[in-house]
Amino acid sequence: MENIDHQSSENSNLPHQPAGELSNNHFTQLPQSLILVVDDSQIQLTSITNHLKKAGYTVIETTNPYTALNLAREQKPDLILSDYFMPEMDGMALGEAIKSNPETSHIYFILLTANDRQSDRYHALNSFADDYLQKPISPQELLARVNSVMRITKLQKELKDRNHQLEMAIKDLERANMELKNTQAQLLQQEKMASIGLLAAGVAHEINNPICYVDMNLGTMLEYLEPIENAFRKVDQIISAIPKDTEPSIIEKIQEYKDYYQQEDISYILEDMKNMIKESREGSERVKEIVQTLRDFSHVDHSKRQYTNIHHGIDSTLKIAWNEIKYKANVVKEYHDIPEVFCYPQQLNQVFLNVIVNAAHAIKDKGEIRIKTWADDRYVYIAVSDTGCGIPKENLSKIFEPFFTTKPVGKGTGLGLAMSYNIIKKHKGEIAVESEVGKGTTFTIKLPIESDLRNEQQNVEIVQYS
Ligand SMILES: Nc1ncnc2c1ncn2[C@@H]1O[C@H](COP(=O)(O)OP(=O)(O)O)[C@@H](O)[C@H]1O
Ligand SMILES: [Mg+2]
Repeated sequence: MENIDHQSSENSNLPHQPAGELSNNHFTQLPQSLILVVDDSQIQLTSITNHLKKAGYTVIETTNPYTALNLAREQKPDLILSDYFMPEMDGMALGEAIKSNPETSHIYFILLTANDRQSDRYHALNSFADDYLQKPISPQELLARVNSVMRITKLQKELKDRNHQLEMAIKDLERANMELKNTQAQLLQQEKMASIGLLAAGVAHEINNPICYVDMNLGTMLEYLEPIENAFRKVDQIISAIPKDTEPSIIEKIQEYKDYYQQEDISYILEDMKNMIKESREGSERVKEIVQTLRDFSHVDHSKRQYTNIHHGIDSTLKIAWNEIKYKANVVKEYHDIPEVFCYPQQLNQVFLNVIVNAAHAIKDKGEIRIKTWADDRYVYIAVSDTGCGIPKENLSKIFEPFFTTKPVGKGTGLGLAMSYNIIKKHKGEIAVESEVGKGTTFTIKLPIESDLRNEQQNVEIVQYS
């Protein structure tokens, strides 16, 4: 049997041949398979290398184990064949260095050894070597072993690729799942807002009619009071004009009237009635205003993209949220001159509502909510600041996620900011948050004045709430 150790003059420039022609026929060799051979004997090295090259492998070779370490790191061979006895660093040490470096630990390592001490071989196999070959090595055995390693590495590579594909598929699935959750959350919120909008519109409609005639009647009553007062004044004038010597029975009747007037405090009643009707009118005015706000908030006319006065939107939202705010915060408005914005006003109102109500919720006892607006050439900015509890750093990245809430069940759904984020995104705007625990939070909304929405009018689908 021909042994590699006995061969010394193989021509290393032989053209590469496919593995199948030289070794077994059922092996399909991977063209990219790279083998690193390390042996301090140049003769042995050349001989092994030539055999491998003839079988079609790409081979790098070195007599220096330190160079081998570098080559392994840089070129990532599929297999290292290393001699055992080498003066500078033996095969054991090289193998251990290869396997303890995470960059190279995956490389298959075969130790070539003339040492027939079983304990050394066991030690090598137990600690770092994937296999060993006993010298003298026959070319057939060498190729059979290498081919078998290559089959294993090919399978390992395929497994790794499949794993990678699976991981990617899982990531895609997770992303799709998140999007689905997001959409579900939005739908839920839209559904909720739709019913609130409908309810508000319905209530507003129902109240509108009666409050209009209550207000009108109060106006008429106020007008009626004037002639009544005049009539009493006239009676007073007539009484004072009656001469003192008039018939006593008439004087008596007049006194009777005067006593009744005094007793019932008619002049006070007339004055008080006037005030009461005035107050009631103020009340009905207020109800009319609320009804108008509700209609503004949920009215179908407002469901189209249109040039909108953002200040009006914020004001009507403040009225809606007033109950949540009034005991908690003073509202300070710092409105600057801003142009009208091309947007879905109703949707933006919902964003303002979410952010303002969140600000009120963040304030424990009493604080301030400051609403500032300004503009540059292309954008309008709305900043809502509060002096509330602030948001801890670890929560800042989560607050826009659907269902993230720190509020008790019933008070928070965790959907407000997720929905706000999506609405602002649809407007090609941005929503940013700055917060310091214990000091307060500022949400800043940046909206393009002439949004691209103008060009996408047909494509963007936004569910209307009423
Ligand atoms: N102004 C704010 N100050 C402090 N925390 C806030 C503020 N705005 C939002 N948050 C935090 O973000 C979370 C998510 O808000 P949001 O999506 O509106 O849902 P929800 O208000 O239903 O909890 C809140 O539960 C709260 O922890
Ligand atoms: Mg909220």
